[in-house]
Amino acid sequence: MALSRAQTNSGESLISSTFASRYVRTALPRFRIPEQSIPKDAAYQIINDELMLDGNPRLNLASFVTTWMEPECDKLIQNSVNKNYVDMDEYPVTTEFQNRCVNMIAHLFNAPIGEDETAVGVGTVGSSEAIMLAGLAFKRKWQNKMKAEGKPHDKPNIVTGANVQVCWEKFARYFEVELKEVKLREGYYVMDPAKAVELVDENTICVAAILGSTLNGEFEDVKMLNDLLVAKNRLIRWDTPIHVDAASGGFIAPFIYPELEWDFRLPLVKSINVSGHKYGLVYAGVGWIIWRNKEDLPDELIFHINYLGADQPTFTLNFSKGSSQIIAQYYQLIRLGFEQHNKHVLTLC
Ligand SMILES: Cc1ncc(COP(=O)(O)O)c(C=O)c1O
Repeated sequence: MALSRAQTNSGESLISSTFASRYVRTALPRFRIPEQSIPKDAAYQIINDELMLDGNPRLNLASFVTTWMEPECDKLIQNSVNKNYVDMDEYPVTTEFQNRCVNMIAHLFNAPIGEDETAVGVGTVGSSEAIMLAGLAFKRKWQNKMKAEGKPHDKPNIVTGANVQVCWEKFARYFEVELKEVKLREGYYVMDPAKAVELVDENTICVAAILGSTLNGEFEDVKMLNDLLVAKNRLIRWDTPIHVDAASGGFIAPFIYPELEWDFRLPLVKSINVSGHKYGLVYAGVGWIIWRNKEDLPDELIFHINYLGADQPTFTLNFSKGSSQIIAQYYQLIRLGFEQHNKHVLTLC
């Protein structure tokens, strides 16, 4: 092994590099910033050697996240690693690419966008951030409605299957929303739409369906959920909406099951997330959240940043982030088009 670990008498952990040792006389402390600087070649050698102990991403099929892109796209990524996405005035073309991606994905999901309208959505770090934003929008809309009706608005809940990805539990805990989970049963490992609708009450901010369950990839029956919920809403005069977590399925279903109704064709579907870094075929660090229309994203959640120049509306959890993944997503969308996406998806399935 090119690296060895040692401990000083005081118990401090040290790292020595065999190959970089000609540059580095003393071992580096493991958890403290070293006192002295080292040559750049030494820093490279030490880090490169240690990284050899990581797994090989090309052999990692565990999390269905993209691990290979074409060299042309790698070049675009490399050329933009130093661009902070949030400096929208400085990098207006990158912002334009994100807007194009949002609109392309919204059209892919059949959002009802008029001729002169643009889609409502944003690029995120992944589906988890997208889900936090979607959940916040539902919570705020529900609170506004309950306040307007003079009703208590301190016990929101969300209905999901017990098969939801951990990010939903995170959302529930971080943003103080009760998670009401439909139990799975032997032989049925997705959310049962009828049971989900039974769990809906006046405090339900939305029902979340998954298109591509993390457990087994199965699509939940969003159409049946929509129809049952429409009936319940009509009966009780509620308007409980649906969110579709299409982290995996969002870039699969539109290409190989275009007839399947799971998206904005269903009236109660108000927002959809998808991971760009899964079947959007981009390296880790990109997701998308799309809202049906402007009314589904409460205005008070949108921040207007203007200290970097002109007014820029944003709705994200973080401020700064890299631009590369947005550019890479745009590359994949225009490079593959419908034609190649179909082929790619079919080889994956
Ligand atoms: C259904 C589902 N939702 C959300 C996520 C979280 O996605 P991300 O890793 O893009 O944050 C995953 C990840 O596997 C998932 O499978």
